[in-house]
Amino acid sequence: MDYADIHNHLVPGVDDGSRNEEMSVRLLHQAAAEGITLMIATPHNYPGHSEKKIPLVKEQFARLQELAETEAPQIRLYLGNEVFYRDRIADDLEEGLALPLAGSRYVLTEFHPAESRENVFKGLRRLTEAGWRPVIAHVERIEVFFGDVAALQNLRDMGALLQVNSHTMTGGFFDRRSKFWRTMAAQGLISFLGSDAHHPERRPVTMKEAIAKLSKSMTADQLPRLAWENAYDLVAGKRIQ
Ligand SMILES: [Fe+2]
Repeated sequence: MDYADIHNHLVPGVDDGSRNEEMSVRLLHQAAAEGITLMIATPHNYPGHSEKKIPLVKEQFARLQELAETEAPQIRLYLGNEVFYRDRIADDLEEGLALPLAGSRYVLTEFHPAESRENVFKGLRRLTEAGWRPVIAHVERIEVFFGDVAALQNLRDMGALLQVNSHTMTGGFFDRRSKFWRTMAAQGLISFLGSDAHHPERRPVTMKEAIAKLSKSMTADQLPRLAWENAYDLVAGKRIQ
């Protein structure tokens, strides 16, 4: 299969994800075994911490690409950031102090889990008005959106796209959260999956189990959009609906 993972911490030695090249190789092997052929590596970018690190991130990403050429040649790798929201986010992106996804206008944007609905909308507006297209990182972590289909629809209507972690989708019948986010995916509200992998044992790259679960509630037309098509469109510079 050709799954895509647009949120992970595989770049070695730049954040709390992969600590070194050996760990990155193990994560690449996991990704290959999970059927992933496109990955956007997204090291954390926090205001006041990460701006100076961009040259190092780029250097380490080049190293990851070299490793992938021999260890997982079927995987196409791109670079981005998981950009923690701050008021000057659009300026930081414009100035190259934070990286959009694969050089596009799409930005993997992280909000604090306890952020208010109002602040999320305000932040997203700031990004869209500056011509960026926000992709909300693990939207399921933002407490106020759990169970609120209308609010999620509003996010989509204002041009934001939503990413859910693959692991979130794998809960059993009694896992209300997992069921809710699978339902949102089936309603077409979720655009991307990400493994958010940090560590080969503690937070590994997973994808197949999520796809298997989702295949029970999504149609054969819907699932490919979420599992790979949107991500392939993103890196090809196409507009995602
Ligand atoms: Fe992450």
